[in-house]
Amino acid sequence: MELVQENVEIETLTQKQFNKLQEKRWSPRSFKDKEISRDKILQIFDAGRKAPSSYNEQPWRFLLLSKDDEYYDKLFDCMVEFNQSWAGNAHYLAVSFGKKYFSREKSEKKPNRHYMYDVGAFMYGATLMAATMNLYIHQMAGFSPEKVLENFSISSDYEPISMFVIGELGDGTDLTEELEEKESPYSSRKSLNEFLFSNEWEKPF
Ligand SMILES: Cc1cc2nc3c(=O)[nH]c(=O)nc-3n(C[C@H](O)[C@H](O)[C@H](O)COP(=O)(O)O)c2cc1C
Repeated sequence: MELVQENVEIETLTQKQFNKLQEKRWSPRSFKDKEISRDKILQIFDAGRKAPSSYNEQPWRFLLLSKDDEYYDKLFDCMVEFNQSWAGNAHYLAVSFGKKYFSREKSEKKPNRHYMYDVGAFMYGATLMAATMNLYIHQMAGFSPEKVLENFSISSDYEPISMFVIGELGDGTDLTEELEEKESPYSSRKSLNEFLFSNEWEKPF
């Protein structure tokens, strides 16, 4: 079986390009309050859609609202005060959801143990694609999932996982002094030997 169609031109993504893209992504809090074309938004979500998922269930769902949407405030209200202090800088506010039960099991509610994991994979693909277009996604755990379900009348078969904003980088003038000081694209990471083990737990690979 032919796995690669010959007539499809494949652009090679070099390691250097991939590293550069990964390094470009970060989670800012300063954003331009500016519309993003529908095309770009769709491209971002289309990139996420290509993520792998357990049984190819694709348990991800999203609500995406702009400040011009009627129910924006209903969503804004769901965030904790700290996130409200900066997330309104961006024009778009969203929530990722995971479907907790497999759709392929019609007769019973069979829990999908990996729904959250799969939504995370989606988000990383989407976030990297956003970065190719000079757009940034900042995710938030600081919100009330119960309030999201209630405000939008959503079944508890779905779990709100993260809220996030999408936008172009701002110039920092929209931030409080304290947040401006924190604003940095360089956050630390654990070294490989702190989490990649072999033979014995906590014995570095
Ligand atoms: C699931 C998740 C929840 C997060 N929650 C918040 C949050 O509530 N508020 C916030 O300001 N940042 C939040 N962040 C951003 C992280 O603090 C940030 O990704 C981390 O410090 C690494 O920095 P970087 O994304 O700039 O590389 C969250 C990120 C993720 C992935």
